[in-house]
Amino acid sequence: MAVLAEDWRDGGFGLYVHWPFCQAKCPYCDFNSHVSREIDQNTWVRAYILEIERAANQTPGRVLNSVFFGGGTPSLMHPDTVAAVIDAAKKHWQFANDIEITLEANPGSVEAGKFTGFRDAGVNRVSMGIQALNDVDLRRLGRIHSVSEALDAFAIARNCFDRVSFDLIYARQNQTPGEWRAELKQALSYAIDHLSLYQLTIEDGTAFGDRYRAGGLRGLPVEDDAAQMYLDTQEICAAHGLPAYEVSNHAMPGAESRHNLIYWRYGDYVGIGPGAHGRVTLGGKRFATESPKAPNNWIAAAETGATRTTPLTITEQAQEYLMMGMRLSEGLDIGRFCRLAGYALPPQKVDYLLDLGMVDTTGTRLFATEQGRPVLNAIIRELLAD
Ligand SMILES: C[S@@+](CC[C@H](N)C(=O)[O-])C[C@H]1O[C@@H](n2cnc3c(N)ncnc32)[C@H](O)[C@@H]1O
Ligand code: SF4
Repeated sequence: MAVLAEDWRDGGFGLYVHWPFCQAKCPYCDFNSHVSREIDQNTWVRAYILEIERAANQTPGRVLNSVFFGGGTPSLMHPDTVAAVIDAAKKHWQFANDIEITLEANPGSVEAGKFTGFRDAGVNRVSMGIQALNDVDLRRLGRIHSVSEALDAFAIARNCFDRVSFDLIYARQNQTPGEWRAELKQALSYAIDHLSLYQLTIEDGTAFGDRYRAGGLRGLPVEDDAAQMYLDTQEICAAHGLPAYEVSNHAMPGAESRHNLIYWRYGDYVGIGPGAHGRVTLGGKRFATESPKAPNNWIAAAETGATRTTPLTITEQAQEYLMMGMRLSEGLDIGRFCRLAGYALPPQKVDYLLDLGMVDTTGTRLFATEQGRPVLNAIIRELLAD
């Protein structure tokens, strides 16, 4: 048990703060994001601080490796709101010397002017949603910024922060593999040390999902083209010195997002804000945490404790570690899986996947090969099947 109690230490400890508001709802997005005209930021500060105090009381003495403001559009937060959350976290946990504090930003000009405020609040990394480098596609994606506004905002962010990543969505309507290759190379000419590159997913319950089901949303790339775009992405990014360290994330070695690594290395993270999830080890047991999704419900619940905890069984933990770890290029620590699960990875399944060339091993780690990465979900299913 003592070993299990410390399992999270292999992944680190982080704080996720969800800001659920956006200026407009993008038609492809199924994140917990809402458009609201009346937001009293003082109410939000109070609720975040209450939740941080509760979480910190349960996890005294921990060193915090990362804070991540995600959304929604956290760049709509007032810098004072961000500062108050960071100060509360600092009061209750010890900050690692190299703590990473990331804020997700939309490239609207209004928010760009706030970057110095965020920096003064303690933010040291920005992740910006640029999404596309042509205006027609930005409009199709329902974005409210142009390419030139996005690049201006990116330039301002670069002046304020050493670490600025940006997101692009590919496999868009009418996009060919050749067009994506050209766009990606352009993106790499701006990139600093980190890029998140997501294949467009049509999510149920979004405007795109509805349109797709009704037979609209024409011109999405056929499966072969989308697969080609994924392979090209891997090759071009690696050639530019930003290899994939996770399915959709590319970085210069050492510039990986420490926060996201906590998830994929199956560390502990406190999640606060509407709909935020967490994983926290308390008294030797690991718990999943969840909060009410609707902003008003969360605010009301935060007065007495918004975060619900559910214990995870050993099997659930081992499965989660496998699902998270296999997303990483570095893969899974085979010994850690065994310690966590109480049994080894099934050798006949591992051998089968090794023979197919889908996975490889260093002896201590198991990871998906270039050939296996596009079918990662099938690999994970195979390793988890009874
Ligand atoms: C929570 S959003 C936050 C960023 C910020 N609100 C923005 O939109 O710029 C994180 C990223 O997820 C990606 N994303 C969201 N929905 C997606 C979808 N349906 N398919 C592919 N990528 C998606 C976008 O690239 C987006 O930047
Ligand atoms: S993609 Fe970003 S800006 Fe658009 S609705 Fe989702 S969270 Fe908000």
